[in-house]
Amino acid sequence: MKIVDLRSDTVTKPSPEMWEAVKSLDNRMIGDDVEGEDPTVNELEEKAAKVIGKEAALFVTSGTQGNLVSLLSQTNPGDEILLEELSHIYKNEVGSAARIGGLMIRTYTSNKGVPSFDQLQKLIRDRGDIHEPPSTLFSVENTHNYHGGGIIRPEVIKDMKEFSHKNDLKLHLDGARIFNAAVGLNVPVNEITKYADSVMFCLSKGLSCPVGSIVAGSKEFISKARKFRKMVGGGMRQAGIIAAFGLIALEPKWINRLADDHKNAKILSQGLKNINLPIKVHPTDTNIVIIEMLENVRILKIITALNKAGILAFNISKEKIRFVTHYGINADDINYSIEQIGLVLKKNL
Ligand SMILES: Cc1ncc(COP(=O)(O)O)c(C=O)c1O
Repeated sequence: MKIVDLRSDTVTKPSPEMWEAVKSLDNRMIGDDVEGEDPTVNELEEKAAKVIGKEAALFVTSGTQGNLVSLLSQTNPGDEILLEELSHIYKNEVGSAARIGGLMIRTYTSNKGVPSFDQLQKLIRDRGDIHEPPSTLFSVENTHNYHGGGIIRPEVIKDMKEFSHKNDLKLHLDGARIFNAAVGLNVPVNEITKYADSVMFCLSKGLSCPVGSIVAGSKEFISKARKFRKMVGGGMRQAGIIAAFGLIALEPKWINRLADDHKNAKILSQGLKNINLPIKVHPTDTNIVIIEMLENVRILKIITALNKAGILAFNISKEKIRFVTHYGINADDINYSIEQIGLVLKKNL
């Protein structure tokens, strides 16, 4: 049976060119990265810093680890940080900011990841008041996963920077899918990242590496983050073997390939809209399509029925199902998905 795996862009596997790069490694090109001696990791970190437009970068095991070391490096235990209420750091990183960082979390509401700055201002603590913890970091997610891969535009990130500066906050950008934002807007990625003090992006999502993420920022920030990475078990020794995939992933050709995923997501979204069903198809900017049930349904029943029809997807709430396009999904898969999702929904709604 045909299976179309639309659960996440994390299910992607490396391209032939990536495998070639890994196969061409030899022992001279790997070393102990905890000692800074892995030439391939060093090359990846230099390349990543250049591409993302920051002084320095650090190869980390995952996006979750990258966000955590970014928070640890820019805050102190007992500080309060501002996270969007549906952000990955708040919802899906096992509360590490609180448990490991000793941080208080204050969530902000938003319109697709963008807060009202007036509302946000009310959340900032009074440093002069002896009773209050200091607010020290503001985090933004771009593209925003739970808001359907929505893009936050550079001028809005600039406003966030100004807000952060005014309130003496560090600005962290969870850019797990920041290249989707750049490709979606057709702007160089540093147009978006230049306003952030720290950026995390994933190699293992749309860029289709098997493992790894990058944290980037000033040299001072990265030297702190390197130490925290060690603390949380991210010292990976001969990690050049996995960093080699990333060197190919950061080539412009591979970054621009994300446009195919966006095109497929648009076709999927339009195809689902064209079927007359009691669902809302949320607008899609990039590679994530969210549908929302308008009737009271058992969502897991629908997910199971989709799985039986060969369409793999996750429900992200009791009403919403998320489909993610990625490397390995082609136009035929999309047409098949539209047809099968339509049949399953018609039968189950
Ligand atoms: C927005 C966002 N940030 C961070 C992460 C964490 O990445 P990882 O799964 O590599 O820990 C994800 C993963 O899905 C994500 O969607």
